[in-house]
Amino acid sequence: MDLYTKFEEHLRRRLLQVDTFHPFYQEALNYTLQAPAKRFRPLLLLTIVEAKEPLLLPSALDVALALELFHTYSLIHDDLPIMDDATLRRGRPTLHRAFDEVTAVLVGDGLNTHAFLLIAEASLHPDVRVALVRELAQAGGIGGMVHGQILDCHFEEHPLSLQELRQLHLNKTAKLIAASLKMGAIIANLPPHLQEELFAFGLELGLLFQIQDDLIDALAHEEEVGKTTRNDGKKNSFTQLLGVKGALEEADRLAQKLERELKAMEEPIAQGLGGLLGNYLYRHNDLKGRHG
Ligand code: IPE
Ligand code: IPE
Ligand code: MG
Ligand code: MG
Ligand code: MG
Repeated sequence: MDLYTKFEEHLRRRLLQVDTFHPFYQEALNYTLQAPAKRFRPLLLLTIVEAKEPLLLPSALDVALALELFHTYSLIHDDLPIMDDATLRRGRPTLHRAFDEVTAVLVGDGLNTHAFLLIAEASLHPDVRVALVRELAQAGGIGGMVHGQILDCHFEEHPLSLQELRQLHLNKTAKLIAASLKMGAIIANLPPHLQEELFAFGLELGLLFQIQDDLIDALAHEEEVGKTTRNDGKKNSFTQLLGVKGALEEADRLAQKLERELKAMEEPIAQGLGGLLGNYLYRHNDLKGRHG
């Protein structure tokens, strides 16, 4: 069974359950989580574990799930009217549209917190669990995703320099993607230099992922991608700063660099990651030839 299917089955087995008399709390907790998604961050983690310590895969699944919970929380809050004001996510109405804003805020809070509970309770050595908590908190918290999101929102309608935009994207997206690889490396007990190598690779991969996401916003129809697009008009995005052509060139440049770095990685990581990233490095190619 491939890792994607393994993860989906795990997620379905572990849907969130709460003993409550609230009429839709439990449904709302699982609503965005269950909807079809790429599961990119869990797959990065699981790919490293499968390549190096496949016997640890069952224990890694809950940590992978924690990443998806955390990421899903960030999306639910990102879609709120006070942030990106989006109506469609993962092919469904956004959580605050399907239920209400209070529910979306609180479900986001709940998924965030529950991610750390899953790691705390994973069947891994206590030292490993502490290291994993630290990585997720660093990448996702005040010096990571939250920082990126507050820059993104604060500087709407205020053009940033390319260097500042890079910092914004590194924080809001790339650090969590880099941490996903590093958390896989921590579970597999890889030596520190390899953990750092994967983290550095992940930062550039995350930057590419967000540039592609900016291109998707500018060029894709929302029915194709299952989320609100043409929504970054006031934002600092790579397409705003460099134009569609410039953003496509930057994506090509980064993808080629990552491809070279991937080939230079040791086996079996090169093969495992190469298999996963084959679907991602050039996903912007599908958008070439479209006009913004
Ligand atoms: C969207 O994330 C937000 C970004 C950080 C670009 P994904 O593109 O991974 O969305 P899902 O998880 O597949 O819905
Ligand atoms: C959001 O970036 C990144 C997060 C930390 C959630 P975007 O606002 O570009 O993500 P989408 O396009 O709504 O998925
Ligand atoms: Mg946003
Ligand atoms: Mg958004
Ligand atoms: Mg976007």
